[in-house]
Amino acid sequence: MKPLIKKLVESYGPSGHEDQIRDLIRGEIKGLADYVTVDPLGNLIAVIKKKSKSGRKVMLAAHMDEIGVIATHVDAKGFVRFLPIGGVSALTCLGGRVRFADGTLGVIGIEDRKINSPSLDQMFIDVGATGAGDCPVKVGAAAGFYRPFEEVGSRLVAKSMDDRVGCAVLIEVMRGLKRTPHEVQFAFTVQEEVGTRGAGPSAFGLEPDLALAVDVTLTGDTPKANKMAVSLGAGAAIKVRDSGMLADPRLVALLEQRAAEARLPVQREVLEGGSTDARSIQIARAGVPAGCVSIPCRHIHTPSEMVDLRDVEGAVALILQTLEKPIEL
Ligand code: CO
Ligand code: ZN
Repeated sequence: MKPLIKKLVESYGPSGHEDQIRDLIRGEIKGLADYVTVDPLGNLIAVIKKKSKSGRKVMLAAHMDEIGVIATHVDAKGFVRFLPIGGVSALTCLGGRVRFADGTLGVIGIEDRKINSPSLDQMFIDVGATGAGDCPVKVGAAAGFYRPFEEVGSRLVAKSMDDRVGCAVLIEVMRGLKRTPHEVQFAFTVQEEVGTRGAGPSAFGLEPDLALAVDVTLTGDTPKANKMAVSLGAGAAIKVRDSGMLADPRLVALLEQRAAEARLPVQREVLEGGSTDARSIQIARAGVPAGCVSIPCRHIHTPSEMVDLRDVEGAVALILQTLEKPIEL
């Protein structure tokens, strides 16, 4: 899975600008689904049709978009001011590199290096221009963070593990799915980082009987972390609650049962703050039973998000195990 994850995380795609990452995923899933479409908002939908009458319509969602920045103003010297796209902390920005859709690279600088608690409005992007005239960045242009993928033992480090690692899980599930009674609807969604905007409309169109989002979650295993019973490397996490959703208890029970049958280590996740596409899917149409398979991840929303490959592979195995058998809720 590592080469796939590397390709996905190194690709460009801040919220609202998912064309490049969508084309990449489209290439990866070629021939794996009965049909593939792009819906009006840009969500990439791939469907494996139902094989048996007793099968359900199961939606799996992972978001293609990533956090980033959007240019608000270019000054006379060619420095670019910006707003965040999604949850970007100024603490992670100084000296960081961003890349625009056309490949333009910029470095984030700050007005006063002695500031203790920097804010984004004191920062600017330096693209190496000498003035507004030769600055290639237009107001409204969006950039993603730029950082190569690295391996540290079984840990993988990159920008945009949130949620390209979820996209990789969906792709691996498509590749590994040998037999299922269900219709499986794979949704690679847009605009999650700006408020799970893509997933709801995609669920409205797909009318699933149940849905699982696949996304990253925080861990409680770093110094002075919030108390949280999720650790890196201890298995995929089954979401029970986050600040946007209470997972359907029947889905939590189903996932735990399938994990036990396959002897897969899993952890229960209760996340204090943050949410996923599942929250929008759950309240789409007349409502959808929804849950989430989470990948434990350290340093979320920094350019160095860290996951453990064993947790990622565990998530793939858990979802395959769940899809291969009948589902009674
Ligand atoms: Co995120
Ligand atoms: Zn995410």
